[in-house]
Amino acid sequence: MQREQWNSRVGFILAAVGSAIGLGNIWRFPYMAYENGGGAFFIPYLFAMLSAGIPFMIMEFSLGHRLRGAAPKVFSKLGQNYGLRLEWLGWFQVFIAAIIAIYYVAIIGWAISFFSFSFTQSWGTDTNAFFFKEYLQLGEHSPTNLGLFQMHIAIPMAIAWSITSLAIFTGVKGGIERASKIMMPLLFIMVLALIGRIIFLPGALEGLNYLFEPDFSKIFDAKVWSAAYGQIFFSLSVGFAIMLAYSSYLPDKSDINNNAFMTVLINCGFSILSGILIFGVLGYMAMEQGKALTDVVSSGVGLAFVTIPAAINLLPAPYILGPLFFLALVVAGLSSHISIIEAVTSAVMDKLHLSRKRAASLVCGIGFIVSMAFATSGGLLLLDLVDYFINNVALLASCFVELLILAWLFKIADIRDYANRISEFTVGHWFDLCLRFISPTMLAIILVKNLVNTIS
Ligand code: PFF
Ligand code: NA
Repeated sequence: MQREQWNSRVGFILAAVGSAIGLGNIWRFPYMAYENGGGAFFIPYLFAMLSAGIPFMIMEFSLGHRLRGAAPKVFSKLGQNYGLRLEWLGWFQVFIAAIIAIYYVAIIGWAISFFSFSFTQSWGTDTNAFFFKEYLQLGEHSPTNLGLFQMHIAIPMAIAWSITSLAIFTGVKGGIERASKIMMPLLFIMVLALIGRIIFLPGALEGLNYLFEPDFSKIFDAKVWSAAYGQIFFSLSVGFAIMLAYSSYLPDKSDINNNAFMTVLINCGFSILSGILIFGVLGYMAMEQGKALTDVVSSGVGLAFVTIPAAINLLPAPYILGPLFFLALVVAGLSSHISIIEAVTSAVMDKLHLSRKRAASLVCGIGFIVSMAFATSGGLLLLDLVDYFINNVALLASCFVELLILAWLFKIADIRDYANRISEFTVGHWFDLCLRFISPTMLAIILVKNLVNTIS
């Protein structure tokens, strides 16, 4: 059977961008930049983007395009030429993707709930108690009572699953591409509209000052550099089978280099927009509450479901700005979730020679059931654990092993030649240098540091 293909170049880029832009851009990047030198963080961040993000993306796009398969097939074909068995690496990546998919969907479910609450701010004034006690039902029951099933969390998760499975069922062109073409422009419009209103509120510019004020002394801190590289790998969705699957649907004539640059630049540009949005809101909130910005700044789940709801309470027209924020979160999350599920589904299709619909039913069906573990009162605990392990260990290890094999066992220059042959502009020898030396060194340093931190 003929492999499916993207309909247009824009469609492919929007799908890849949809995968890359996710919760991480909105709730991880702004805090990370603030903590690691503010405006000065952009130096290591830009460096990581150029020396790791773009080369890695070109490499994955080339592999998917050339070998025409999901991760297990790509690595298995790659190994065959050299008499090596590498399929396991693909399955390891698919496995990580599957794990991410089942907890990511829980967060999208929470965001859907909060989208509905935001019209009337039914979270009340104590948003902390609301999220943890009333919504997640923590503290109500002892931590040993983890199995308590929460229907009000399961239902929005089921909604998220239905949207994702609809896109995957319908296929590359009609489903994923069409969804991305709606979701990505919508996401940008929503975020720009939010920024456009928030920037004029008192305190917003002070918030931005906090974010962008450079602390150049941080540039000499190794921690800041490892934060920048870690953020780039996570943010671009590389190393978990996703970009391989997406690029396997590219038409023969495709400009790999250009597509990779566009995807990376749009993702990183969106991160900066989110930074402006989040710090604008936090600056306004600090001003309204007469607090220092350092007392309100946060990241992750706490930022999205405790701090932001409290800030929305203080905003003008909260019934408009609130739903806009949570819809943006839902859209950013869903487009990433679709890409993760596609990575798993396409691997199952390749391996078992199943039709798309059968493979999708299998993957979404099992995924749905397993993800219900997060609709219990133990959900947050489980999520924290899994998220920590994935971000700090599994993801980095997977990128590291992929790089070692590709850049040291095989000739990375061949991949560059391949990409250059079908691209309008060519990348030079710096590409090899980045993938053979800079990226693996940085990955190894971060990985070791994280493992040490985990053990101690
Ligand atoms: N790249 C996305 C982000 O920065 O939020 C998150 C993500 C997408 C992580 C897909 C993992 C994934 F498989
Ligand atoms: Na991202």
